Amino acid sequence: MNRIEELKRRRTFGIIAHPDAGKTTLTEKLLLFGGAIQIAGAVKSNKIKRSATSDFMEIEKQRGISVATSVMAFEYKGRQVNILDTPGHQDFAEDTYRTLTAVDSAIVVIDVAKGVETQTEKLVEVCRRRNTPIIVFINKLDREGLDGFDLLDEIETKLGLKVVPMSWPIGMGGRFKGVYNLYEKKVNLFSPHGKQSEEDTIELKDINAAELGRLVGDKLAAELREELHVLESVYPALDHQKYLNGDISPVFFGSAVNNFGVKELLDCFVDIAPGPLPRETEERMVAPEEEKFSGFVFKIHANMDPNHRDRIAFLRICSGTFFRNTNYLHVRQAKKMKFSNPTAFMAEKKSIVEEAFPGDIIGLYDSGNFKIGDTLTEGEILHYKGIPSFSPEQFRYVVNKDPMKTKQLDKGIDQLMDEGVAQVFTKADNNRKIIGTVGALQFDVLQYRLKHEYGASCDYEPVSLYKACWITWDDQPALTEFLSRRKADLAKDKDDRWVFLAQSAWTLKMAQENHPKIQFHFTSEY
Ligand code: G4P
Repeated sequence: MNRIEELKRRRTFGIIAHPDAGKTTLTEKLLLFGGAIQIAGAVKSNKIKRSATSDFMEIEKQRGISVATSVMAFEYKGRQVNILDTPGHQDFAEDTYRTLTAVDSAIVVIDVAKGVETQTEKLVEVCRRRNTPIIVFINKLDREGLDGFDLLDEIETKLGLKVVPMSWPIGMGGRFKGVYNLYEKKVNLFSPHGKQSEEDTIELKDINAAELGRLVGDKLAAELREELHVLESVYPALDHQKYLNGDISPVFFGSAVNNFGVKELLDCFVDIAPGPLPRETEERMVAPEEEKFSGFVFKIHANMDPNHRDRIAFLRICSGTFFRNTNYLHVRQAKKMKFSNPTAFMAEKKSIVEEAFPGDIIGLYDSGNFKIGDTLTEGEILHYKGIPSFSPEQFRYVVNKDPMKTKQLDKGIDQLMDEGVAQVFTKADNNRKIIGTVGALQFDVLQYRLKHEYGASCDYEPVSLYKACWITWDDQPALTEFLSRRKADLAKDKDDRWVFLAQSAWTLKMAQENHPKIQFHFTSEY
């Protein structure tokens, strides 16, 4: 197969969900279909148990599992499907945001009983920012849940997605009989424990046929007819281009644990989901078909074992072909590097790859050369965009507990920030360092790793902040005035950009009103 054929059959996506909605279960069922695993239970959940939130070493151990399952690739109907795993724990949401920059599409899993939950809202917002095409899977139909129409409404209002139902539940919970496949006009009858057989899928071109009553009972048949009537008048048919543009989202109903509705989802996914998309760099758009290789690092995973300091940088291939043992340009460091052990992750197995194509993710062993967002090319100066830092939500001052180890502390903070563990802001008025994170857990992770990997001790002091916003300005006098008035609320991020540290929503509003020539941004990329 040539390079173009290889790249055209790649389907790289991420599954996003609020913890417990069924992401791990669905992933596993997809891998079973793809033959990447043979038995259920083979994919270890990288879900971090809630009871373990105070014990972050346990969490890191569990997170270690997620290295192995970072990318799960399998073949299905001639496609190579790459699933990028995303951490379930909300304190690691930033990792998930970054992983989403490396996908071409996403599947959102929603628990039928819970509806749209907060974590899902945030993650979908990140996808929508980049117009990532989204398919929705409503899970756990074997349980009592919200009404189908209410759910679709909720998805539209809370997630801002325009939905196109592709299947529709017949009953729910104890009364759940199956789903009606709207685009193939088939009834799929439900039997628990994933024991569906071919005979359970019955073509029913005419929804008014008496057979429907025989299959699901007259009452449910009447309900279904009525609901389908409403669906047809309210929701549009699937327009492939609109889906690819991120304008509409197909919705499926099913039960992952019972392996019900998963095949329909997968069949539709490989049919409609986009292959590797062109990507924007600061310099130009890069098409996957281009002959020359380029890619970017979207995630760095450190080894927690102090005897093995190496890290794995995860690289998304965007164009050309990546070859093992070939010199590539590390654009930020302006130096050539080659990689003798680039690794592919196939469900449980790791293997060294000789070559990789756009859409693929490979792991590069790294001794500290990479930071998130770094670009590798064959020589061209390119900087991939779309890997922003998000405004953190929790803040603390860092206090150096051992002045003899200041150098180690600074180096440690610097490197751990490159890995994306947290963000550091240096205050303009007194040079104090403030650490900002998405979740409270990162403070413990940082403290522990500084001690064990860099020999530096730090403590934290509380600081009451609402948000950190990156700023831009219309002209220099506007900035000068803002700096002189608000010096105590200003800081520099690690890339030397100005950041406004708002103490409250009100201070932010006032700053915006009083300084109309200053723009406030909630991500580092604007
Ligand atoms: P996550 O990765 O999104 O956090 O969720 P995960 O797949 O681990 O699923 C969370 C729980 O929901 C699991 O139960 C799982 O078995 C259950 N589940 C997944 N899909 C369905 C479904 O279609 N119907 C029902 N009724 N349950 C489903 P658990 O008790 O937390 O774990 P386990 O002991 O079953 O593994």
